[in-house]
Amino acid sequence: MLNTIINRVSCGRLQAPAPSKEELNLLLQAALRAPDHKGLKPWQYLVFEGEQQLNQLAQVYLQASLKENPELEEAKKERILSLPHRAPMVIVAIAKHKAHEKVPHIEEILSTGAGVQNLLIGAYELGYGAYWRSGPLCFNPHLKPLLGMNEEDSIVGFVYLGTPDIELKARPIPDVSEFVRFGLDWIDDC
Ligand SMILES: Cc1cc2nc3c(=O)[nH]c(=O)nc-3n(C[C@H](O)[C@H](O)[C@H](O)COP(=O)(O)O)c2cc1C
Repeated sequence: MLNTIINRVSCGRLQAPAPSKEELNLLLQAALRAPDHKGLKPWQYLVFEGEQQLNQLAQVYLQASLKENPELEEAKKERILSLPHRAPMVIVAIAKHKAHEKVPHIEEILSTGAGVQNLLIGAYELGYGAYWRSGPLCFNPHLKPLLGMNEEDSIVGFVYLGTPDIELKARPIPDVSEFVRFGLDWIDDC
């Protein structure tokens, strides 16, 4: 399991098939086992699969983008409409705002992010490719109502899923010593 986590890589070139219904269910179960302060379960995962649903997502992307900028050029509109079609399945990961006095929204976002990571690791283990994206639409407030979200909810990311269309290349594993310090004595050396 640790090997899967350490060696997991993202894959941006994705083709059909997407995970099956059973596999998707397992991946979502993994996502729903994220650490969760006060057990708020602040997660929502919107799954878009197949032409019709990916087109629906593309249309709401376009509507939200036009609200932000009504003067969008044709080429930009085309690009926005093409975004969801980069994979056979797209999952929008949402952190719902539950308004608990001891849990700031950032913790709901972090919990959902941990869920997304579980999903990515699970997809890699099952042999699928996955890519976590954000981009301007992630922060476009006009997209929220179109996805059934409340204003205070957050989009944590768009997870693209499918079968890798390219050979996955190992990525360098960062050197632990660069990112970790033990105790506080090292501060004097700075
Ligand atoms: C919150 C978040 C948002 C991201 N958004 C994008 C994005 O919009 N476009 C992109 O190319 N990579 C994005 N990435 C990075 C990729 O998902 C990926 O982690 C990166 O390309 C490194 O590849 P690796 O996962 O194989 O190490 C994002 C990562 C995170 C955690």
